[in-house]
Amino acid sequence: MRDGIGTVDIYVMGKQYRVPETLTILEAMEYAGYQMKRGCGCRAGFCGACATVYRIAGDFELKVGLACQTKVEQGMYLAQIPFFPGRKAIFNLEEIKPSVADFAQLYPEVFRCLGCSSCTKVCPQDIDVMQYIAYIQRGDFAKAADLSFDCLMCGLCVSRCPAHIVHYNAALTSRRLYSRYLAKPDAFLAERVREIENGAFDAELQELMESSRERLQELYNSREIE
Ligand code: FES
Repeated sequence: MRDGIGTVDIYVMGKQYRVPETLTILEAMEYAGYQMKRGCGCRAGFCGACATVYRIAGDFELKVGLACQTKVEQGMYLAQIPFFPGRKAIFNLEEIKPSVADFAQLYPEVFRCLGCSSCTKVCPQDIDVMQYIAYIQRGDFAKAADLSFDCLMCGLCVSRCPAHIVHYNAALTSRRLYSRYLAKPDAFLAERVREIENGAFDAELQELMESSRERLQELYNSREIE
């Protein structure tokens, strides 16, 4: 391999490929000739679409990671597996309250947590998943919302939970409950909504709607990023 970059052998569906050791799983799959249409999105560790399960030769343990962030290793075995079921409770936010009783109706499995911490250990975002589940059990939705804020919803926590908790959906519900019922109204947001309603941005919006695709791309690429 050029430039002193070494190679490793990985196995995709049992077939061996020699790939540069610097690649992520996602890049290595493409290097091996796979076209990734599903199971990848942002390629930057944000969208959670690329949650992957793998094994290393000789090691019994099933490992997990985001394919766009996890570097290949010698003897890495990758295989397609069906995605983990992530039950999502359907509810009308206006008809529930931020209470333990209402939450237990939506996600009863949350209250069967065994405290094994597998979810926390597996989280690629280093979120203390088990702790936010504990906050939900206590009805502290503000803390659960805060602690789960960086969740990508990749679902790896679900893959390891013996109680079949769907942590990321429970967390999403806690954040909705928090913003609907518990968060203090934000003066800045209210002011911005008023401006929008009064048409303060109508001209700019109209200009955007009439812009060419090229112009929109140019604006997007040169936008200020906070
Ligand atoms: S592709 Fe978006 S997190 Fe990996």
